[in-house]
Amino acid sequence: MEIMPESLTRDENAANDNKSFFITTPIFYVNDAPHIGHAYTEVATDVLARWHRQSGDDTWFLTGTDEHGQKILRTATANGVTPKEWADRLVESAWRPLIDTINISNDDFIRTTDARHEEGVAKFLQKLYDDGHIYAGEFEALYCVGCEEFKPKSEIVDGTGAFEGEKVCAIHSKPLELLQEKNYFFKMSAFQDRLLALYEARPDFVQPASARNEVIAFVQQGLEDLSISRTSFDWGIPIPWDSSHVTYVWFDALLNYATAIGYGSDNEQFARRWPATHIVGKDILRFHAVIWPAMLMAAGVAVPDHVYAHGWLLVGGEKMSKSKLTGIAPNEITDTFGSDAFRYYFMRAISFGQDGSFSWEDLAARYQAELANGFGNLASRVLAMNAKYFGSVQPEAGVESDEDRAIRELADSVTAAADAHIESFAVHEAIAEIWKLVDALNGYITSQEPWALAKNEDQRERLATVLATATEGLRALAELLHPVIPLATQKLWVALGAEEALGALADQPLRAAGNWNRLPAGTPQQPLAVLFPRIETDESK
Ligand code: MSP
Repeated sequence: MEIMPESLTRDENAANDNKSFFITTPIFYVNDAPHIGHAYTEVATDVLARWHRQSGDDTWFLTGTDEHGQKILRTATANGVTPKEWADRLVESAWRPLIDTINISNDDFIRTTDARHEEGVAKFLQKLYDDGHIYAGEFEALYCVGCEEFKPKSEIVDGTGAFEGEKVCAIHSKPLELLQEKNYFFKMSAFQDRLLALYEARPDFVQPASARNEVIAFVQQGLEDLSISRTSFDWGIPIPWDSSHVTYVWFDALLNYATAIGYGSDNEQFARRWPATHIVGKDILRFHAVIWPAMLMAAGVAVPDHVYAHGWLLVGGEKMSKSKLTGIAPNEITDTFGSDAFRYYFMRAISFGQDGSFSWEDLAARYQAELANGFGNLASRVLAMNAKYFGSVQPEAGVESDEDRAIRELADSVTAAADAHIESFAVHEAIAEIWKLVDALNGYITSQEPWALAKNEDQRERLATVLATATEGLRALAELLHPVIPLATQKLWVALGAEEALGALADQPLRAAGNWNRLPAGTPQQPLAVLFPRIETDESK
């Protein structure tokens, strides 16, 4: 037998150690332009993806657009264009630009009108049909075009105002439509017991716990078979064995997570990436935690690793939405505050998993107190003192005092704690943990008074130790905060001279951010532009 050279074996091991992490956002309906509720889903997923990527996990981040179905067809018709023309217009003018507006690091962007997707969906459907999971039947029920869903009784309410006397959707408050058709059905009811066993065996499959409980209660009530085709319009993927039907838009859309990574076309890529972690808003939890795993079980594919349901951004106590005219465009915020502040604010101010209200006052207050005064000032003060007292190089640390050790140990403990929070999707807790280091470093500068030490030549070594410690703290913060505020941390990284000394910021192993004295003494530093400039608000003018 041929013996492999040692280096090759080691490389192989290293590759195996890189845990696969495939994370997805929902794909967005292209009937309208994005608002900050959509951007919220994107940013949360992006922070998780960046954290894992920077930690060395074999990360793949997928997002995209959901373009078929009645909702898009009606919008296009109302605007006098074909649905494909409408989708192209919205994707190019609104949804792809959103990626830049909020600085999203997706590896792929799938559109359900991509050939790769349409072909994968056809293969999946054909397999389920051949294996006896699909049958033809008659159907009559109330449909909400806003949800693209036949509504269960619990979500049908009496209309008010203009819709008095009609049945309306509890989410959209718009009238439901009675649909009566011959449809193909997926035998979802057959998977009820297996789904319940899944939730039981893997308590972290649906998170948070409130979402898991809701899903279990729903499935326990009993599952019906799912209508998966439509004949009254043709904007969708044809059913492969009966082209007079198009595929139900949710059945089509859920499959994006599989077709994007090569389901039915690239087995190697699929095996490398799958299963996924899905981040979704709570309104679409059931599709992801019930229908989707049932579809996968039927096809003999592993179910996702996790389905995490986050809360809603509320306006006046209701879900922010374009149709209710409460949507705020993401660039209304980023034009003034920048993408870093957008990302930081929503991730920090709202407990991930719960609803939260957006307010301009809260955003402005946190920007000033936490980003500008807390973090930005810390960075500029420390670099300015390095410039003034040490000619803009990293000072050489001397004997470590208790205070210095406390900072070093805190950097280590917040790194471990933040990583554990990210593992459990508590993004807000991870940031709060890292911020303990920001606050501690500010307190350290105040208590150590480097400006006073600088007045006394005998204290030169102590001054060097204090500033070396504070600068190492900034180095750790740049690494830890990079997934949340990529632009500001990159500027800081360059100013610290770390780009030259340690390499690209995105390549720094995040879980080792607490390791100390990584910036070599003597590393040249560069001037730092103000990270979070003062915002002129109406009151401050
Ligand atoms: N197209 C479907 C998803 C298909 S996934 C296979 C869809 N699209 S959507 O554009 O309506 O919503 C996309 C995501 O944005 C959902 O996770 C939804 O919860 C989220 N949000 C839309 N409005 C929101 C808020 N006001 N707040 C937070 N997230 C919200 O559903």
